[in-house]
Amino acid sequence: MGIEDILMYDESLFQNINAFDPDYVPQDYNFRDTQMEAMAMSIRPAMKGGQPSNAVVLGSPATGKTTAIRKVFELVEKNTEKVVCVYINCQLHTTRFGIFSQIYKKIFGHLPPETGVPFSRIYDQIMQNLQKDNKSLVIALDDVNYLFHSKSANKVFYDMLRAYEEYPGVRTAIFAILSDLEFKYAFDKNVNTVFIPQEIVFPLYTYPEIEDILKNRAKAGFFPGVISDDILEQVAMYTHENGDLRTGINLLKSCGNFAEASASREIKQEHFDKAVDSLVSVDFSETLKKLNDAEKSLLKMIAGWEGVCKAGELAEMYIEKTSSSYASFNRTLDKLEFVRLIDTKFTGKGVRGNSREIILRFTPDDYVI
Ligand SMILES: Nc1ncnc2c1ncn2[C@@H]1O[C@H](COP(=O)(O)OP(=O)(O)O)[C@@H](O)[C@H]1O
Ligand SMILES: [Mg+2]
Repeated sequence: MGIEDILMYDESLFQNINAFDPDYVPQDYNFRDTQMEAMAMSIRPAMKGGQPSNAVVLGSPATGKTTAIRKVFELVEKNTEKVVCVYINCQLHTTRFGIFSQIYKKIFGHLPPETGVPFSRIYDQIMQNLQKDNKSLVIALDDVNYLFHSKSANKVFYDMLRAYEEYPGVRTAIFAILSDLEFKYAFDKNVNTVFIPQEIVFPLYTYPEIEDILKNRAKAGFFPGVISDDILEQVAMYTHENGDLRTGINLLKSCGNFAEASASREIKQEHFDKAVDSLVSVDFSETLKKLNDAEKSLLKMIAGWEGVCKAGELAEMYIEKTSSSYASFNRTLDKLEFVRLIDTKFTGKGVRGNSREIILRFTPDDYVI
């Protein structure tokens, strides 16, 4: 088919293409009852005017954490006006002002002015309002590790959890959602005395669970008969071995797109194969796009490195070129590893503690950084 035919071809295999969107909330949400019950137990006291408790929600990416908290918050709000639930995506809101602006918006229905109002005034208005209406505040800080990158975490936790000292009777709790265990104990002492969370763990999905979830998703997204059990199994296998549920959902969608582009009424093997090939490059280029300048320049150095890339030598070069500190080098390197663009391998003791070797997880020529 020509390009125009592809664009204008109006027979779709998709019954509901939104079923493959990242923010789609599925009707069937199985395998997470235990975790959602634990979340409900933490919030329950607040339903009766008591103190909600804090929680750390832990689990690898795409284990259902975001969906679970959204569903629980929805149920809470359906049943009471006494608890204000605020969901905050910390990838989007990384500053103390940004986060409290979201809380303000939930309470007052609009964002505070961006300039001219000091943080303390916004904070005061939020807490006064909670006090006056005798409401509890539960906030979910999703992907809270991003607050550690921007160093806002301790301040936000402190402001939230010690509010009762200045505003007696105010009841607040935090659900800190994390995809990486490493950040679990990264708080200041001041925060550790008030943030004593219960842990809610989201384990990895097993193969049968993945298959079941993807089957349901395919049913919601495609017309009947579009995807065979055989292809579905291949998608589930690939997902189980190489990625997470998000990979699987993307893969389903892109199988459908490839089938549609070749005017097929069903997804065939060749469409699955093409979809797998395209996935790998999309993942990397999406991640690359989100890096900041410091991360990009460090990655460029690693990509252009001749021979074995040792962290010590890399640090020297990076610090010289960018005149940043060793600590900031380390943070930037950790971030690149966290988003899985690089691997680091410990190779024994070095001058500044353990020495590491850095391995690029993709071929530099294929991508423009
Ligand atoms: N038990 C489940 N049933 C159906 N879909 C699920 C389930 N768990 C996760 N998903 C889907 O997988 C994707 C990732 O889930 P999400 O809640 O964003 O995970 P996390 O926040 O842990 O990264 C979303 O598209 C979500 O709809
Ligand atoms: Mg999430």
